[in-house]
Amino acid sequence: MSVNKLVFKKPVPEDGANVYELVKKCPPLDGNSVYCNLLQTSHFADTCVAAKRNDTQELVGFVSGYVLPNDSSTLFIWQVAVSESARGEGLAKKMIVNLLTRESCSDVKFIHTTITKSNQASWALFRSLSKELEADLTESIQFDQELHFNGQHDTEFLVEIGPISR
Ligand SMILES: CC(C)(COP(=O)(O)OP(=O)(O)OC[C@H]1O[C@@H](n2cnc3c(N)ncnc32)[C@H](O)[C@@H]1OP(=O)(O)O)[C@@H](O)C(=O)NCCC(=O)NCCS
Repeated sequence: MSVNKLVFKKPVPEDGANVYELVKKCPPLDGNSVYCNLLQTSHFADTCVAAKRNDTQELVGFVSGYVLPNDSSTLFIWQVAVSESARGEGLAKKMIVNLLTRESCSDVKFIHTTITKSNQASWALFRSLSKELEADLTESIQFDQELHFNGQHDTEFLVEIGPISR
């Protein structure tokens, strides 16, 4: 599927159930509740992107994020999901870059996300993003397997990209 056949939109609550289904089809992402996806597509819509086919309006990509409550210069990217049919065409990166053009992200100078060591696709995406934005990428532990997950989940590494010149 060509990225040119997609539209990037601010999500609406009616997208929430479809976000739930998309994330379910995108391992290794952790599934959330539909209720959580409804909050993302309502309260956090200004910092989320829905990519839809312009003919059928099918949801093929979604980025959830929010500006840190105590720091308007940092956009936290929670999850990036692209359906298999739309992968490998730059969609994930384009959705994040699109988010940065929003008024809601006008103060943003840093992007944060967390990634487990084994998620190679995610590392590749954020390394590519740091190159495109010509901003440094640093990593450190954010949530530790033993200390924070009680051994039940791999360590999540904080990835910081920035400062981004705008
Ligand atoms: C990860 C994911 C979002 C990538 O979506 P995508 O639209 O195919 O990614 P893009 O085309 O924008 O790729 C961006 C960069 O990452 C690289 N990349 C993407 N998927 C990759 C993979 N599986 N292995 C290695 N590199 C990969 C691309 O080559 C590209 O690098 P480049 O710009 O240097 O050429 C998608 O595969 C997915 O939804 N995976 C399952 C969920 C997940 O792991 N999400 C990320 C965690 S938040």
